Amino acid sequence: MRTYFDLTGRSALVTGAGAGIGAAVSEALAAAGASVLVTDISGDAAAAVAERINTAGGKADSAALDVSDRDAAVAAAAQAAALGEGNLHIVVNNAGVTSPAMFPKLTDETFRVTFDIHVMGTFHVTQAALPHMPTDGTGRVINVTSSAGITGTLGQVNYSAAKAGLIGFTKSLARELAAKNIMVNALAPLAATPMTETIRTNEKFAANMMNRIPLKRWAEADEVAGAFVFLASDAASYITGQVLPVDGGMVM
Ligand SMILES: NC(=O)c1ccc[n+]([C@@H]2O[C@H](COP(=O)([O-])OP(=O)(O)OC[C@H]3O[C@@H](n4cnc5c(N)ncnc54)[C@H](O)[C@@H]3O)[C@@H](O)[C@H]2O)c1
Repeated sequence: MRTYFDLTGRSALVTGAGAGIGAAVSEALAAAGASVLVTDISGDAAAAVAERINTAGGKADSAALDVSDRDAAVAAAAQAAALGEGNLHIVVNNAGVTSPAMFPKLTDETFRVTFDIHVMGTFHVTQAALPHMPTDGTGRVINVTSSAGITGTLGQVNYSAAKAGLIGFTKSLARELAAKNIMVNALAPLAATPMTETIRTNEKFAANMMNRIPLKRWAEADEVAGAFVFLASDAASYITGQVLPVDGGMVM
């Protein structure tokens, strides 16, 4: 019988995986059988997640990786490939920050930092990973965008521009890498993580969000992680260049 979601023998590199969605995705990929390099700008946070995976019977290693640092991305890609006997099958570009401000108050610095982490970070890590990626149809690049990049959001022109940039990145790279049989997709999640704490705990922001989410609740990070496993798996072998919202129906 054909198996669709078994990632045994595949290796993965997840960025920004010391907390939130990245940590949950690392655990979900490991539970599906992948060997995971858990990376984060905080090496300690990444190591703690890798230890949790190994204690639970999965296979993981960790590295400190600031995605705005190209050399560190090259080293991490090689480390992840070593976990997969020379192949790096799955790259999840998840690292992210927000730096909200209404437009007149946005500075060059906050605009640049947001771009450096989301867009340049995804560029560095994906380019570093590519020489290690197999061309047998198991290669996956999964970028993390946001509803902000699809519909826009108040006070986040910098973040929305970066996340919309990642959608263009995803679609163009999907066209290029189709020749190598590597699928490139993006996911637009919504989850209760440290990043969304301010929105969830401010009464006005929280009520506004609930009005926008048809399912009327926040997902925990592990609930959105399954969609990453899907895109990483053989079940998604004919899906490329797509943006999948996993957000309780907020974007439809
Ligand atoms: N949580 C949501 O509802 C939501 C919604 C839309 C999009 N996203 C996106 O999902 C991704 C994960 O978000 P989250 O909610 O888990 O955030 P989070 O803040 O909980 O975790 C982000 C992680 O990224 C790490 N990080 C920050 N800068 C980094 C850098 N330069 N290099 C490497 N790692 C770095 C942080 O240390 C942290 O561990 C982000 O790209 C975010 O924009 C999240």
